[in-house]
Amino acid sequence: MSLPLNISPFPLIAEAMADLLSFCTLFLVFLLTFLLVRTIFFKSRTKVRLPPSPMSLPILGHLHLLGPLPHQAFYKLSTAYGPLLSLRLGSVSCIVASSPETAKEFLKTHELHFSSRPKNIAVGHLTYGTYGFAFAPYGPYWKFMKKLCVSELLGGRTIDLFEPVRREEIRSFLKVLFEKSKAGEAVNLSRELVRLTSNIVSRMAMSQRCSETEGEADEVQTVVQAVANLVGTFNLADYISFFRRFDLQGISNRLKDVHKRFDVMMERIIREHEEARKAKKMNKEMGGDGVRDILDILLDISEDDKAEIKLRREDIKAFIMDIFVAGTDTSSITPQWALSELINNPTVFEKARKEIDLVVGKSRLVEESDIPNLPYLQAIIKETLRLHPASPISLRECTQDCKIGGYDIPVNSRLFINMWAIGRDPKHWDNPLEFRPERFMPSDENNRSPIDLRGQHYSLLPFGSGRRGCPGATLALQVVHAALAIMIQGFTWKAGNGEGNARVDMEEGAGLTLPRRKPLVCVPVARLHPFPSIDALT
Ligand code: HEM
Ligand SMILES: *[C@@H]1O[C@H](CO)[C@@H](O)[C@H](O)[C@H]1NC(C)=O
Repeated sequence: MSLPLNISPFPLIAEAMADLLSFCTLFLVFLLTFLLVRTIFFKSRTKVRLPPSPMSLPILGHLHLLGPLPHQAFYKLSTAYGPLLSLRLGSVSCIVASSPETAKEFLKTHELHFSSRPKNIAVGHLTYGTYGFAFAPYGPYWKFMKKLCVSELLGGRTIDLFEPVRREEIRSFLKVLFEKSKAGEAVNLSRELVRLTSNIVSRMAMSQRCSETEGEADEVQTVVQAVANLVGTFNLADYISFFRRFDLQGISNRLKDVHKRFDVMMERIIREHEEARKAKKMNKEMGGDGVRDILDILLDISEDDKAEIKLRREDIKAFIMDIFVAGTDTSSITPQWALSELINNPTVFEKARKEIDLVVGKSRLVEESDIPNLPYLQAIIKETLRLHPASPISLRECTQDCKIGGYDIPVNSRLFINMWAIGRDPKHWDNPLEFRPERFMPSDENNRSPIDLRGQHYSLLPFGSGRRGCPGATLALQVVHAALAIMIQGFTWKAGNGEGNARVDMEEGAGLTLPRRKPLVCVPVARLHPFPSIDALT
């Protein structure tokens, strides 16, 4: 049987080709006209001089250059194009700053033009459309909350009041390690440390633990992890409007779901607080009210008619979410990186242990109050945050046209300050890739001035800098030092399953923060027998 000629596909294709050709011609004419008009239009204005930029693709711009670890991709680009570069991510203009000098320009000299953060879809969904505190535009609400953070919520007094809570949590962490060491088993430090820090934040925020070794209180932690994952997911819809319509990554459904779960949980906890507060008010004459947690402070302010700004319930819930997301992963990752470095650098480990033995002795556990007397321990944390800043990029938004380093920075550009790259800048750090805490010791010949972590020294910015810098730094540093100190004082650590002298692999994973690619799993060998005051724990 032969094919009837009239259904041969060729004429159809020829027709389609002709259509396509005429379409292409039309399109070309259109494009050329558009470009011509645009050039004329731009010529008539003063020339905008943007920082250097690599070649870009249509629509994507430079999105394809990012990869799963943006701080590393930005760093590579900066070695080729310099410490100030401009990128277009989808339709968003971005500036990347990668050196201490450029960071200082943005964070100090032009601070007021870069004190807002860009909005994104996930944060909007999750914070009841308020953008909470961490993503609030620089304005009256943010200023009000910032003052509260400094004076009350995350301030010295609150931190002191909760010292016993942190001590208790450190001891239950220690107990887990001790039991593992008795059984000769490996411990998953990634899990135990995030438990530790979430319990600390959770108890300070709302007087309840959020993670038990076994059982139910894990709800808060599960929700918080889900939130962090979503905020950390690179959402194409933030950059390309096409994705906003179709949500190809399925993010908005996940957002709705997580938001709902968080809300139900927070409502329950707030109601419990409100009932307890009513009961307390009735018993006021009895005196002796307990420690006010962060939620109590916020509720007091929301009920205060004289407050400068009336806090709404959404604001309160969003703030609690902010400190969970900003505070728990970051402070659990830092001691993980520190211990990883120490396992790979046994001489540093030994030196740190000698210092603790000398200052604290072997008959009691190291405490937060010992930290000021442990300069080498502090140097280890600085060196860890230099190489592994838990939050590697600070995200800001330009709110006014300005000129930096001779380049124009247009309003609404998104600014990425790459703190990870800054900590590795060979112009500022000798052998930047080497883990050498000595560089922070006053006795070191290369130590020109004592470098602090609070954003005064632009070559080391793990907590950012300026008014938008991290308000949780003091709290975080207490927790991070205490957790690392106890791991050094109490145990010798064997990487992997405890066989031989395995090294810990130092690869980075993707995420909102800077996690290890593989969890840190190692075997603790208890060193102090009998463990001082461990019996009181068990
Ligand atoms: C090792 C632990 C931590 C690191 C490395 C870290 C780092 C940072 C960085 C780099 C920023 C952005 C700063 C900037 O843009 O200049 C930030 C912001 C923030 N951090 Fe932390 N942080 C840590 C722990 C904490 C803790 C424990 C809390 C609270 C309990 C916290 C709460 C916040 C908040 C609320 C913001 C947003 C501030 C604002 O937008 O004004 N952080 N943090
Ligand atoms: C260790 O804990 C992390 C975080 O909870 C988890 O993702 C990982 O699967 C755990 N790994 C092992 C080997 O238990």
